[in-house]
Formats: sequence, structure tokens, C-alpha cells
Amino acid sequence: MAVNMKGKDLISIADLSLEEIYEIFDVAHSLKQKLYTNEPHRYLEGKTLGMIFTKRSTRTRVSFETGIYQLGGLGMYFGPNDLQLGKSESIADTAKVLSRYLNGIMIRTFDHNDVVELAKYADIPVINGLTDLLHPCQVLTDLFTVLEKKRKLQGLKLAYIGDGNNMAHSLLNGCSKVGMDIAIASPSGYKPNKDIVENAKKFAAYMGSKVEILEDPVAAVKDADIVYTDVWASMGQEEEAEERKKKFARFQVNLELVKHAKDDYLFMHCLPAHRGEEVVNEVADSPNSVIFDEAENRLHVQKAIMALVM
Ligand code: CP
Ligand code: NVA
Repeated sequence: MAVNMKGKDLISIADLSLEEIYEIFDVAHSLKQKLYTNEPHRYLEGKTLGMIFTKRSTRTRVSFETGIYQLGGLGMYFGPNDLQLGKSESIADTAKVLSRYLNGIMIRTFDHNDVVELAKYADIPVINGLTDLLHPCQVLTDLFTVLEKKRKLQGLKLAYIGDGNNMAHSLLNGCSKVGMDIAIASPSGYKPNKDIVENAKKFAAYMGSKVEILEDPVAAVKDADIVYTDVWASMGQEEEAEERKKKFARFQVNLELVKHAKDDYLFMHCLPAHRGEEVVNEVADSPNSVIFDEAENRLHVQKAIMALVM
């Protein structure tokens, strides 16, 4: 392997070099081929991955657990009430203990700082499976999917319509790192984190691409190669859902809005989707939509991440 990532944590795309990002894509491509042609690829024979979830999950859980199994290892699921973590034992102690048994940890939780803390004290790689701040495995998968469909990343434009949430943040990190233009349209009060935007602007300047933070969905979608959206109320924000429906009404991805994108635009969504809210069926199920390829690619990209860091 060209780039050595063994032992590395995967907490934010901002921490990855361009070489590491493309190494993940190369390995993901090769693992996908191997799975399709039934070629053995048990690179993690006998290794164990602990999977800690304090939030719900369909894709992340099933793709990580299937992925580690296909690589010859074992995935262990820990739900919100399974570990002593954070309740009756500190994150630091948990990290040190788990490091004596496991070869890697994947964690999905609320507070991003908890993942940073876990990684600080763990001697094994920690993979971020979503926090309130970031969702790096999803966005690496999204970029891999764009690369498969468009054969390039640099120079393309991605428009993200909706909440300035974990998806918006990881897309800012990811697009700016690989030299894609990104335009985000969010209602006032729901803009992405300023530090992440500033950092993305620095990466983008280096790569010769653009970062735009707007309030007009039409301006954001104009000539976009990719139109991306996510739920208006994320996990943990359920009680704000009704209020958000009103504030985000203008930010729906529908047939009228996508007319402003390029004809061969890709529609992307990390899923789960709230159809009829942030996106209508006519877009989500259109020939431009690649939402299920994206979901499938979680498996291949995360297998690549595990194979590289574990
Ligand atoms: N996209 C994603 O992470 O889906 P889950 O919440 O189902 O894992
Ligand atoms: N923003 C969503 C993404 C789910 C994959 C959430 O955090 O619930």
C-alpha cells in the first residue's frame, strides 16, 4: 500500500491528506471488485472491532458489521445501555480497557469531544461513525461515489441545501480537500460552524476551488454537478422538528429547484430521508438519484478504512 495509515484515527476528513483520501478510494475500489468477483480479502483475520452506538443507525451499523466480517474479523455491537462508558466509568478508562481487547473502535455518539477524548486515550484506531459535528465516513463514501459516477472530483460543484449540520460540515471538509466547489444554502440561524467554514476556505484556496455560504437555494444549485440534502431535524433534535419544518420550507429539493442544476446532476442524500420534507420522491427516485449506490458504498469505503487503519 502506497500510504501507511496503520494506527491512524479517522475522526475528521480535515485530518486526512489528499494522498490518504485517494488511498482509501483505491482500496475501496479494489475491495468492491473483490467482493463482486468472490475473491477472498480477509485482511483482518482474527481482528475485532468494537462498535459503540448511543444513537440509532441502519447503514452505519450494518455496513461496519458486515464489512469487518467480510474482512475476516468480528464486529461487536454496544448499544446505549451496554457499556459503562461515560456513566459509571470515564471515557479515558474505557478507552484504555478496550485497547487491551480490541483492534479498533467505531463510535457513533452525540458530543464530538467524547470521540476526540476516546481517541486520545485509546491505543487502537478510533473511527467516527457520526457525531453532532461530523460524519466523515459518510462523506468519504459520497466522494467515492461521485468519483465512480463522474470519473473525477476536482472542478465539480456540489450544492448542499438545508441544515448546517454534521453532513454540511463533513461535506465542507471533504469537498474543499479534494478541490470541489461547494455552495451551501441554509436558513439564517442554521448556517454551518464558522471555524469549519474558515478552515474549508483555506483548503479550497490551496486546491483552487470555492466555498460559498448562501441563503438562496437557487443560487446554490445553479450549475451544480451534485445536489445534496439531509434531514431538517437530526437525531437528538426531534423536539425541534415542527419549528424546523416551517423555517426550512423554502429549502426543499424538488423538481423546480433541480432545474437550475446541470442536466446530468447527481442527487445525493446520506439517508435516512424524510421524503416530502427535504426532498420529494420525484427527485429521490429520479434517474439522477444515486442514493442507494451511496448507501452500498458505505460498505466498501469503510472496509477500506478498517483495512488501512487496523
Ligand atoms: N447515513 C447514515 O449514517 O445512516 P444510518 O444513520 O442509518 O447509519
Ligand atoms: N444529520 C443526520 C445524519 C444521519 C446520517 C443526523 O445526524 O441525524
